Amino acid sequence: MSESAKLSFQGKDYEFPVITGTENESAIDIAKLRASSGLITLDPGYKNTGATKSAITFLDGEEGILRYRGYRIEDLAEKSNFLEVSYLLIYGELPTQEQYENFSKEITHHTLVHEDIKKILEGFPSNAHPMGVLSSLICALTAFYPDSLNPNRNKEEVNLSIVRLIAKMPTFAAWAYKNEMGHPVNYPDNSLDYCSNFLKMMFALPAEKYDVDPVVASALDKLLILHADHEQNCSTSTVRIVGSSQASIYASISAGINALWGPLHGGANQSVIEMLEAIKADGGDAKKYLDKAKDKNDPFRLMGFGHRVYKNFDPRAKIIKKAADDVLGKLGVNDPVLEIAKELEHAALNDQYFIDRQLYPNVDFYSGIIYRALGIPTDMFTVMFALGRLPGWIAQWKEMRENGEPIGRPRQVYTGANERDYVSMNKR
Ligand code: MLT
Repeated sequence: MSESAKLSFQGKDYEFPVITGTENESAIDIAKLRASSGLITLDPGYKNTGATKSAITFLDGEEGILRYRGYRIEDLAEKSNFLEVSYLLIYGELPTQEQYENFSKEITHHTLVHEDIKKILEGFPSNAHPMGVLSSLICALTAFYPDSLNPNRNKEEVNLSIVRLIAKMPTFAAWAYKNEMGHPVNYPDNSLDYCSNFLKMMFALPAEKYDVDPVVASALDKLLILHADHEQNCSTSTVRIVGSSQASIYASISAGINALWGPLHGGANQSVIEMLEAIKADGGDAKKYLDKAKDKNDPFRLMGFGHRVYKNFDPRAKIIKKAADDVLGKLGVNDPVLEIAKELEHAALNDQYFIDRQLYPNVDFYSGIIYRALGIPTDMFTVMFALGRLPGWIAQWKEMRENGEPIGRPRQVYTGANERDYVSMNKR
């Protein structure tokens, strides 16, 4: 028997259907609310508002559960790889051997980018933030593949855009870094796997031989898996709403990159390391900063702790924490900033003040620590987040398009001036 929700307003009663998802989450379907009652709902930040029905990612903030297409993130991080997880998110099922090989081959075949991209890249000053370069180059793909401007093309053509995105994003990301360093760009090496190819494009220099460290490549692959999707977060919602206007997939993904750039979203991993470096520069006294974080009159805030959705712990953080210990040990990294991080982590997990406020280390706290240990420069951390989140954005864009969802157009409660007559300049 389907459930419903009743609303009484100004002496009238209204009833709305309640829909329940496959994980027993329920939502009031208010599609007819305004037409029947004249009311709208108000929910700044949409924390209580479902924007869509989705079959891609399930997360339970109370229980610390995260699954991609029903598969536990813990299993995928341990047993899968980033390209296989990308296939799963985008096409809905784990690939067969043949499907996986075809997918990998397709992506490898498209890693090269048009030489004119270099002209666009050369237009950026070396102090350009790599996220701005990345979102620009992704949007520039609309110029090199103008057919992509029509998102209503057939499945094969949409699929080609998807493959091009996954194949070329690492190239663009690495080239954004090379632009910043003033180094010549490296072309993709199609003999390497996805992460090894990225690392070589990032760090190889013409003057010397570069061998990818398999420990680094494997850790990076795990990090990308952990960042691959996270249901209707800020950047994913951005991709969906831009795509809902029937803008191209490249324009939609470019918008998602820009949303992720913000320090309250993907930029948090960069802010964590900048916080740790500031504490180190101020003498490295973690306790001083823990006390500052507790002081209501002190503007200092601990970055990388707590989460809008997870109430007890971020399941990704647990996996990354173990990977951090593993990678730092294997690489023999001994970085004072990382020692400060461990002191903050210990306090947050044992100090009642932080426990009461659910301020535990989140995915951004540990990811910045690993990226730093892998030699990834700080302002490339959010680019790494974008690299990981790309298949999730693509999967969500594809689902929105295939479900024929309407253009996103939220309403508002107007609080401005009431009607008034124009006053000429000489009478103001
Ligand atoms: C994410 O993975 O997108 C972040 O944890 C932010 C979020 O889910 O709101």
